[in-house]
Amino acid sequence: MVFSYLLGFEPSFLLLVTIFLVILFIVTSWTHIPDNAPPSPARAYPVLGHLPHLTADPRGTMLEWRRKTGDIYSIYMGLTLTVVISSYDLLKETIVKKAEFFSSKPHTGSIDVMACDKGIISTSGPPWKENRAAILSILRSFGMGKNVMGEKIMEEVSAYLKELGHLEGRPADVKGPTFRTVANVVCNFLLGKRFEYTDTDFDKFMDLTERIIEQLGGNFLHNVFPWVKYLPGDLFKAKRMIRCADQYLEFADAFIEKVQKEEIVGDNVISAYLEEMQKQKDAGQPSELSLGQHPQVYEEIVREIGTERPPEAADKTRLNFLCATIMEVQRIASIVPVGLPHRCTEDIPIRNYVIPKDAIILMHLDAVLLDENLWGDPWNFRPDRFLNDKGELFSPEQFVVFSMGKRVCLGEGLAKMELFLLLASVLQRFEVLPGDTNAKLPPLKDKNGIACPPEPFMMRLAERQQH
Ligand code: HEM
Repeated sequence: MVFSYLLGFEPSFLLLVTIFLVILFIVTSWTHIPDNAPPSPARAYPVLGHLPHLTADPRGTMLEWRRKTGDIYSIYMGLTLTVVISSYDLLKETIVKKAEFFSSKPHTGSIDVMACDKGIISTSGPPWKENRAAILSILRSFGMGKNVMGEKIMEEVSAYLKELGHLEGRPADVKGPTFRTVANVVCNFLLGKRFEYTDTDFDKFMDLTERIIEQLGGNFLHNVFPWVKYLPGDLFKAKRMIRCADQYLEFADAFIEKVQKEEIVGDNVISAYLEEMQKQKDAGQPSELSLGQHPQVYEEIVREIGTERPPEAADKTRLNFLCATIMEVQRIASIVPVGLPHRCTEDIPIRNYVIPKDAIILMHLDAVLLDENLWGDPWNFRPDRFLNDKGELFSPEQFVVFSMGKRVCLGEGLAKMELFLLLASVLQRFEVLPGDTNAKLPPLKDKNGIACPPEPFMMRLAERQQH
């Protein structure tokens, strides 16, 4: 009172200012980096943390933060402390050597709406271990990584080539047919059934998949503040995401039901998985291209593939230059720049810091794949970095596109075989040209945080003269 009187302010005004300052102090302390935790590269905003820094160009911003702050730093995603690990050595020290503390998954708004507390990608502990072991053994028994899988992929590749042939060299964005092909390979594998490109249900499924991928990472606010879904209207697109997730899950449930009712017959991973889960339940266990810019690379690949017969899975051991080129494209494109989030389950001392219990861990794979200390000239497109003096292929352990540690990508064998057969077949049959002579390649910008798909790009696929 005395002070307000002396300063000439109304007591009620001073009370308001005091309440405001106390709230500001509390809110700011929520996003305060704990002592001993890795340092922060930028100031956190109250409540939103570092999210506003990551809206325009997350990929570029995170690479810049690594340059500025070092191989390990802390940020707040909303009110959640997140530790970003950006070097291969540190990832090995943590994710690999201390895997028992770094292999769990956090809860986020998107995970909750996608019912991802089941299955593999977002589960932790025994349910994750059992699911992962079961799926891995089923995928292996279905021939993952072996030539038999190649035969299934080739069925789809033939349909893809036919679809591309219909374009008759006209400029087109081939994202649609490519996306369907990749999805159909997985469906064929999982359901024992492929879908015609004219199937409207499949169209709907593809559309939903694309929207889900976009929203899973892009919907930052709903991820860190799940309660925004209760606000009137849909300013933060949370309700749209929930509708989309519901439709997606309905779609998946309908398939599983068909498999259970034996409307889909034949070998498929889903029936094998359902059987395995039933077995576990009975046993009392819980169930739950930038080639256009590099014509010389292109010509070398085409020469290596030859034109005598269509490529097949067994050629993978022979076509070293093509395999090296695919690896180089994957390294530079780095389509999952920060992997999938993990959670640290204990206070873990690392170097001079302590990673606090329950911090989200982001594995900055992009920083490893573009690390000058590892690759020398990371921004140069040089497939020969994956070939030794004898022209044999080798894969350095720092090639971490599929992540590392116990949660390394489960589909690695399938994805590698698919990339190989698709590219070998397309490049053998077509010359890939820009849609028009002034076309620039699309930027590899991280559009939505989780995956980094290329922007739309018009190209022409001209039939090669077969000799
Ligand atoms: C080029 C294509 C692909 C890339 C670059 C890729 C990359 C990744 C990455 C970075 C992770 C995160 C691993 C981690 O949490 O540390 C992951 C996880 C996973 N991927 Fe892939 N992936 C690809 C294709 C596939 C395919 C085709 C499948 C399915 C057949 C698949 C199934 C999975 C699964 C199930 C996980 C979760 C593993 C777990 O948490 O235990 N991926 N992938």
